[in-house]
Amino acid sequence: MTPKTATQPAVTSCVIAPHLKDDITQGTSKYGRMFPDLPCNDCDEAALLDIGGSGSVLDAADVVDDGARQGDNPCIPAGWPVFGQFIAHDITADRSLLQHHATLGEIRNFRSPALNLESVYGAGPSGSPYMFDNSDTDMFLLGMDDANILDDLPRNSQGRALIGDPRNDVQQIITQMHVAFLKFHNAIVGWLRGQAKTGDIFSEAQRLVRWHYQWIVTHEFLPLVAGQAVVDDVLVHGRRFYAFDEQPFIPVEFSDAAYRFGHSQIRGNYRLNEHFQAAIFPDLIGFRLLSHDRVIDWRLFFAVDVNQPPQPSRRIDAKVSHPLVNLPDAIVGATQIPQERSLAYRDLQRARALDMPSGEAVARTMGVEALTPEQVGLAERGWIWETPLWYYVLKEAEVAGAGVTLGPVGGRIVTEVLIGLLDGDPMSYRNAEAPWQPELPGAQPGTFTMADLLRFAGVV
Ligand code: HEM
Repeated sequence: MTPKTATQPAVTSCVIAPHLKDDITQGTSKYGRMFPDLPCNDCDEAALLDIGGSGSVLDAADVVDDGARQGDNPCIPAGWPVFGQFIAHDITADRSLLQHHATLGEIRNFRSPALNLESVYGAGPSGSPYMFDNSDTDMFLLGMDDANILDDLPRNSQGRALIGDPRNDVQQIITQMHVAFLKFHNAIVGWLRGQAKTGDIFSEAQRLVRWHYQWIVTHEFLPLVAGQAVVDDVLVHGRRFYAFDEQPFIPVEFSDAAYRFGHSQIRGNYRLNEHFQAAIFPDLIGFRLLSHDRVIDWRLFFAVDVNQPPQPSRRIDAKVSHPLVNLPDAIVGATQIPQERSLAYRDLQRARALDMPSGEAVARTMGVEALTPEQVGLAERGWIWETPLWYYVLKEAEVAGAGVTLGPVGGRIVTEVLIGLLDGDPMSYRNAEAPWQPELPGAQPGTFTMADLLRFAGVV
């Protein structure tokens, strides 16, 4: 085990401010492995740096300038990766240091492995009362933006958000997605009361929020990122590789490799509304009061209005937009080590620390034809090992479908784990007594989309 270095940043998993550490009391799960029999792909640290650092082969500086179109994914609007990040913060929070060969059993997941929006609800009105409205504790408290409009997260006097997971304020798009979910919950409370529902209105609203969110994960998010075929296969024929006894767990092949595919989907620049466009970092860094000129027009992020096509996300390819390979201090701490600012390097290093198998090894186990070294394209840089799983998942997406969706390895890991988490949660819509369909009104009967959620929440 490599000792901790003096320069190791204090925060290693998205953004966990040290003073917020003790806020989170639930979520004591352990991580596990999806392919426990596969050997680790023990590659060289310097080689990882060569492919993951700023200016490296993974740095999309050359293609992701807003004027260049090569990075655009014509099939996935820009809001979906933010929703993907929102899902990540709901189910996994590894706050261990970036060490080599960490013992998996000692690493704690600070989120419960369930799509239950713990990141939004925290410990609920009694356990996290600062998140709820004192005069009506069924309702979330909202915060005012700098024009005194209730469009922001509630914040303390120093601007820190009072929410279930601090990472949902890391950048101002996910900040506003969290606000949309708070408003969605509050709108459901109002809707239930309008129907003269009695009893525990908070819990009923929470169930509706969770189940409609889970429905969107299964029926809209997964088909978009992994493809309908693999989703149908898992729904109809079941999981083949993600197995658990009674309690689901987060496999590191998911949290520290495949599901980090979303890092390549983040654009360098975003248009938030008709008048405001900016770089994701440093311009859109969160952890501060929202200024009104940044309030999001969600039509620019999701297919809400046929007359207003949303901006695209980046393709899923072996590139990461430049601001993410040069992350600001607020995210990685005041490190003097340039590579620690690179999310791509951190993704590769984290996987190495957890003894991750190679992408080729996982492909062979799945019975999928593995990419050739020519397709991977690292040999010319002196790479002599098999391919790190995260890089492989990005590369196969690029090779298999021009980066429009995940390829066979990434798509299956992501789909099996997310559907598996729903199957393993006795409180999920998949375990309802009778087959469940969305109850809230949407544009099409029998289903519910992200556009419906945003409309119901009153944010479009
Ligand atoms: C602006 C957007 C994003 C930023 C700044 C960001 C930043 C980060 C950072 C700093 C880490 C910790 C890296 C480490 O030290 O191991 C991380 C982890 C992670 N990210 Fe992201 N991320 C973003 C978007 C996404 C998206 C779109 C997804 C997936 C769709 C995603 C999935 C994950 C996952 C699964 C982890 C591991 C979390 C854990 O287990 O603790 N992220 N991200």
